[in-house]
Amino acid sequence: MASTGDAFLDEQIALVGADRGRLMDVLRAVQTRYGHVSDASASAIAAGLGMHVGDVIDALSFYAFFSRVPAGRFQIRLSRTPISRIHGADAVAHAFCQALGIAMGETSPDGLVTLNWTSDIGMADQEPAALVNDVVVTALTPEVVPAILAALRAAIDASTGIPSPGNRVPLPHARVHPNVVQAGPLLSRAARRGDGIRAALLLPPEQVVARIAAARLRGRGGAGFPTALKWRLCRNGPDGERHIICNADEGEPGTFKDRVLLSDFADLVFDGMTIAGYALGAPSGVMYLRAEYAWMLPALHDVLAARRRLGLLGGAICGHDAFGFEIRIQSGAGAYICGEESALIESLEGKRGAPRDRPPFPTEHGYRDRPTAVNNVETLACVARIMENGPEMFAALGTRESTGTKLMSLSGDCPHPGLYEVPFGITLNGLLDLAGAPDAGFVQVGGPSGRSVAPKDFGRRLAYEDLSTGGSIMIFGPDRDVLDIVLQFAEFFADESCGWCTPCRVGTALLRDQMAHVAAGRATLRDIGALESLAGTVARTSRCGLGQTAPNPILSTMRDFPERYEARLQAADFVSKIDLIAAQRESAALQGRRPVEELF
Ligand SMILES: Cc1cc2nc3c(=O)[nH]c(=O)nc-3n(C[C@H](O)[C@H](O)[C@H](O)COP(=O)(O)O)c2cc1C
Ligand code: SF4
Repeated sequence: MASTGDAFLDEQIALVGADRGRLMDVLRAVQTRYGHVSDASASAIAAGLGMHVGDVIDALSFYAFFSRVPAGRFQIRLSRTPISRIHGADAVAHAFCQALGIAMGETSPDGLVTLNWTSDIGMADQEPAALVNDVVVTALTPEVVPAILAALRAAIDASTGIPSPGNRVPLPHARVHPNVVQAGPLLSRAARRGDGIRAALLLPPEQVVARIAAARLRGRGGAGFPTALKWRLCRNGPDGERHIICNADEGEPGTFKDRVLLSDFADLVFDGMTIAGYALGAPSGVMYLRAEYAWMLPALHDVLAARRRLGLLGGAICGHDAFGFEIRIQSGAGAYICGEESALIESLEGKRGAPRDRPPFPTEHGYRDRPTAVNNVETLACVARIMENGPEMFAALGTRESTGTKLMSLSGDCPHPGLYEVPFGITLNGLLDLAGAPDAGFVQVGGPSGRSVAPKDFGRRLAYEDLSTGGSIMIFGPDRDVLDIVLQFAEFFADESCGWCTPCRVGTALLRDQMAHVAAGRATLRDIGALESLAGTVARTSRCGLGQTAPNPILSTMRDFPERYEARLQAADFVSKIDLIAAQRESAALQGRRPVEELF
């Protein structure tokens, strides 16, 4: 391998075996070390990985957590969601701006801090929260801001001017509570690590798939696809190597269930990945971990190392000579769309995270063009429990079409935000009672891409056959401004659109602008009709799930809260006082041109 002239870069490129598919790992390492990836570094990386520099810059420019220009030594990213704002994120942002003498999006004059808003960072139960480089700080108040900045200044090494030690600094409020309010069979601590694997290895792989089918497990990532069917499709794909990918991107605002599984039940998830590897005939698996969860990486690597020592990873797992399995963790870099499985695979291959055309589905042509099963973190944890306890116990819980329990991330206007493990089929009323919020004004089920549910529908059941959800439950009190919250969701989608297809790229921006018009009380009835029609067009014509679901909050609140829209409308349609034709004629006369109407 030719040297790039930069020893650190050479080392990173060697670490990934000069594999261009591992571009993300190299970019992340350089970003962490230097605070940005310069054009010179991009060229050197391209040379080292044997790719065109345009491809490196294409990927680099796509992800929010990569920067091509130098930024502050510390990147503070404040989570901006309706939940963080309910809990005072604006006041915290103001305190940072005042203390640093800058506006959001700027770098302090001493180069210490670059301050930005970011989308949800998976802390909806302990907002306001922020990332300071890779450290997460929670339950922030304006009062704690001076102490955080003092800790950052103290962490700068006087001789080098860079943070010491490395990228991680001890900070006040750097704590994450698991916040498990109600545990059930999934979050039980009864079994030992590896029990599910040992049970699986007693059976031939196809019998393992049969057990998952008997449990009627459906994917917990949102769509509810039957897990056994996905695995069978993958097993029936072209002969040769197969892959299992754990989707730990958890980007849906309001959800944090996978965070808790990874921080407190990582062995269960790794057991699930290993069982999937055995069932599919995959020699290794990859966990795609969102950049916002990079603070968990050291602990996750420790768990993997312990598993290798215990014979739960590596060759001859649990003494089974014919089965070896390895797990690698790859970090994302701040792109919500990378939770979509085909975009995730693109990102894993070192490209921008744009979804692929389907078919072919990943089960046929997935990661590195091989049959691939992408499964959510919670799905894989369920797999481990099914193998430990048997499919009957799992299938006995929940409803006919939605078996087992579901992890619900509750946040917002409730006295007990946190993680609730409940059987599928519980009503929204039942869940609100558990959280101590019986008088909620409305509930956003399934995150911004889900739907807004009004009190008249709180008797509906949380299950795939009724209110389907990946687990984000945002509770809003009766006095909250529905239209403002819908506007914030519209801003989220406009920011997160990958830009590949026009209906979503342009449509989400138009939805945001038109919703802002409505929320500001400047819209007429005709504008509402146009907004509804645009929302329908974006939903029907967008290429992937992001654009197809982006209009959901607008459409569901128009249906369930028409009175909120009506109350904000202008009394009469806007009548323009400007005669455009006359104005154009006057302008043409002034410039000595012929008026437009004479040209055609
Ligand atoms: C825009 C978008 C974002 C998504 N984000 C996630 C995510 O963060 N985590 C996840 O597991 N699935 C996410 N999904 C669903 C995945 O594409 C995929 O269906 C899922 O990982 C499959 O796992 P499962 O069968 O275990 O549910 C997302 C889908 C879309 C369209
Ligand atoms: S719908 Fe949006 S996110 Fe999906 S491909 Fe089109 S632009 Fe990208």
